[in-house]
Amino acid sequence: MGEKRILCVGLVCLDIISVVDHYPAEDTDTRCLAQRWQRGGNASNTCTVLALLGAPCAFMGSLAPGNAADFVREDFQRYEVDLTHMAMHPACALPISVVISNSTNGTRTILHAASNLPDVTAADFEQVNLSQYKWIHWEGRNASEQVKMIQRVEEHNRTCPAAERVATSVEVEKPRPELYQLFGYGDVVFVSKDVAKDWGFHSAPEAVKGLRRHLKPGATLICAWAEAGAEAMGPDGLLVHSDAFSPDAVVDTLGAGDTFNAAVILALSRGRPLPEALTCGCQVAGRKCGVHGYDGIV
Ligand SMILES: Nc1ncnc2c1ncn2[C@@H]1O[C@H](COP(=O)(O)OP(=O)(O)OP(=O)(O)O)[C@@H](O)[C@H]1O
Ligand SMILES: *[C@@H]1O[C@H](CO)[C@@H](O)[C@H](O)[C@H]1NC(C)=O
Ligand SMILES: *[C@@H]1O[C@H](CO)[C@@H](O)[C@H](O)[C@H]1NC(C)=O
Ligand SMILES: *[C@@H]1O[C@H](CO)[C@@H](O)[C@H](O)[C@H]1NC(C)=O
Ligand SMILES: *[C@@H]1O[C@H](CO)[C@@H](O)[C@H](O)[C@H]1NC(C)=O
Repeated sequence: MGEKRILCVGLVCLDIISVVDHYPAEDTDTRCLAQRWQRGGNASNTCTVLALLGAPCAFMGSLAPGNAADFVREDFQRYEVDLTHMAMHPACALPISVVISNSTNGTRTILHAASNLPDVTAADFEQVNLSQYKWIHWEGRNASEQVKMIQRVEEHNRTCPAAERVATSVEVEKPRPELYQLFGYGDVVFVSKDVAKDWGFHSAPEAVKGLRRHLKPGATLICAWAEAGAEAMGPDGLLVHSDAFSPDAVVDTLGAGDTFNAAVILALSRGRPLPEALTCGCQVAGRKCGVHGYDGIV
C-alpha cells in the first residue's frame, strides 16, 4: 500500500468570484476584469492544495443536488480527491459565496449565503475506517460533534498498533466561543488572526504564547498572520517563526490560509520538523497569493 491519505472534514461550497481592479463603490455599475466559479470552503481548499502538493487526500462533508454541487464534485475529481465520505442531502442546497477579488491588492470580500446543509456528525464519522488515514484535519464548525469525532481517534490510537495511529489537527478560524473547546483536542491547532484578536492578542507570537495553555499536553499551536508570516509553538515550548514569502504582486489571497494549513500539515505528516513545516506553509501560501486560484502554486 502507498502513502496513507490525509482526510479533511468540513465544508464545500461554490465561490462565484468577480475579479476587479478596484473595489466598487456602492450603487455603481462597474465592469469586472474576469468572473469564474471556483470550488470553495476551507477544508475543501485544503484538499485542493494537498492534492497539488502530491499528497493522497480525501474530503468528508455534505453535498446537495444541483448544478453547483455537480460543479464542485467534478472539480474534486479533477484533483483526484477521494469522496468516499461525501454524504448526499437531497432536500438541501449547496452554499454559494459571492467573492469580490481585488487583483490590485489581493483583498477578497466575501458574502456567504445561509445554507440548510447539515454538518458532518459524529454518527457519520463512525463509518470512517480510521486505519486508512494517517492524518485527519477538521475545519472547526459544529464543535461538540467534532470533539466526539476526535475522541474516537484518541480511542483508536490507544488500542491500535503504533503504525496505525492517526494524527489530528483542527482549524479554529471563526471567532465563535463555541469553537474554543476545540483547542483542547488535536495534535496541531491552527488559530486565525480573527480568533487571536477576539482573545485580545495583537500579534501571532502573543497569541501563540497566550493560547498554548488551552492545548492538550504535547500539542502544537500555529497562528498565521498574513504579511507577518506565521508563528508556532510545539511541545518543547520554543517559539518558532517564519516570515511571509511575498510574491512580486499580491493578486488573490482567497484561500491563502487554507493553502498554508495544507502545506504545514503535509510537512508535519511526513515527519518534517516544525520550523521547516512553518516555512513551507508560508512559501506555498505566498505563491498562492501571487496567482488567481491555485494554478501554478507548485
Ligand atoms: N499579503 C500577503 N503576502 C504574502 N503572504 C501572505 C499574504 N497574505 C497571506 N499570506 C500568507 O498566507 C498565510 C496565511 O495567511 P492568513 O491566514 O492571514 O490568510 P487569510 O487572509 O486568512 O486567507 P483566507 O482567504 O484563507 O482567509 C500567511 O502566513 C502568509 O504566509
Ligand atoms: C475560510 O477561511 C477564511 C479565513 O481563513 C474565511 O474568511 C472564509 O470565509 C472561510 N470560508 C468559509 C466557506 O467558511
Ligand atoms: C479498514 O482498512 C484496513 C486498511 O485498508 C483494512 O485492512 C480493513 O479490512 C478495513 N476494515 C474494515 C472494517 O473495512
Ligand atoms: C451540531 O450537530 C448536532 C447533531 O447533528 C445538532 O443537533 C446541533 O444542532 C448542531 N449544532 C450546531 C451549532 O450546528
Ligand atoms: C494519536 O496517536 C499519535 C501517535 O502516537 C499521537 O501523537 C496523537 O497525540 C494521538 N492523537 C490523538 C487525537 O489521540
